[in-house]
Amino acid sequence: MSDPAGPRSPEFGELGRSRISIVRGEGAHLVDATGRRYVDLGATHGVGNLGASPPTVVAAVREQAGQLLHLGSGYANPVRTEFLERLLGLLPPRFSKVFLSNSGTEAVEAAIKIARSATGRPKVVAARRGFHGRTLGALSATWRRELREPFEPLVPEFVHVAYNDPAAFDGVVDERTALVLLEPVQGEGGVHVGSSEFLRAARAACDRTGALLGFDEVQTGLGRTGRRFAFEHSGVVPDLLTLAKSLAGGLPIGATVTTAEVEARFRGSHHSTFGGNPLVCAAGLAALETLVRERLAERAASLGEAAGPRLASLPPETVREVRGLGLMWGVELRDRAAPVLAALEARGYLAISAGSTVVRLLPPLVISESDWAGGLAALAEAVGGG
Ligand SMILES: Cc1ncc(COP(=O)(O)O)c(C=O)c1O
Repeated sequence: MSDPAGPRSPEFGELGRSRISIVRGEGAHLVDATGRRYVDLGATHGVGNLGASPPTVVAAVREQAGQLLHLGSGYANPVRTEFLERLLGLLPPRFSKVFLSNSGTEAVEAAIKIARSATGRPKVVAARRGFHGRTLGALSATWRRELREPFEPLVPEFVHVAYNDPAAFDGVVDERTALVLLEPVQGEGGVHVGSSEFLRAARAACDRTGALLGFDEVQTGLGRTGRRFAFEHSGVVPDLLTLAKSLAGGLPIGATVTTAEVEARFRGSHHSTFGGNPLVCAAGLAALETLVRERLAERAASLGEAAGPRLASLPPETVREVRGLGLMWGVELRDRAAPVLAALEARGYLAISAGSTVVRLLPPLVISESDWAGGLAALAEAVGGG
């Protein structure tokens, strides 16, 4: 068998570099080709909030697959309607419109297009360290230079302000601004929790100038931070909300949620062939029902709270700072994250990085208390504090 990470790997670019080949998953466990079991502390990149192959989602997919896989969005479909109504039912009443696509970056593209069209303005204000995806519009809102530079020129009229500085919007958000796009907690940028003051200042700047406020909750949404949506922590409600990752329990999906008032101002068209197909909507409906029934946001809050002191006691000789909320944590090291990730992997725990020096923990919200405690203990050992 060829080495999946070797020179003959068919994977393009940096994908598929790990030497582990995962073949099966169960809850927070992932199993490799040799039968070795790992605990997922982030290997599913925040998609597996309900764990790997959650039984309720698998059952819904099986049933829907036998009925109808695909339907153009021009036709009504009861599963899609039910899914959208269920999603909107979890959100404040001002949200009543959803555009469905297939990924986080597409959800962001739709938000940018909707904001530009609805306001008739060109400018988008995003944040330093922000990450919004890799298609050209979403990439223009993304901050990291090395992700952007090879593809320049990007879309014009995107500017970036300091994250968590409430004064950063002054003089930047103006009558030419269509959209202020922020992650309530920055994920890829190293796990930085947005302060309520900062998010309130963004809302005020938008209200003052007529710009729309967009929260990118692709990573933070659906229970991850201990609330169903991270914006609930601050109480600041946006005009546009992007979701993806765990929304359909593991199947590809993106959603851009907005208000009827914004939709009424939208000119032009936007569309996706696969977006909102019945299979994904059946999965999404089952995933939302499971999230609510199993009180997974509450579970993330309590597991996260218990982890806080544990993570805060990691040794300052190797750990510069620990930041997080719910089951979304970033452990910023004084040195590179790669050796710590390798040490975790050797102990049976799969975590990921955010940038070169941050170990990021995004476990499934269904992780058992003992697996979570084991992961934290393994991390403490790996950074030299166990
Ligand atoms: C906040 C945020 N927005 C957008 C994206 C892009 O999502 P996708 O990889 O599904 O296109 C990500 C992916 O990590 C993300 O974290």
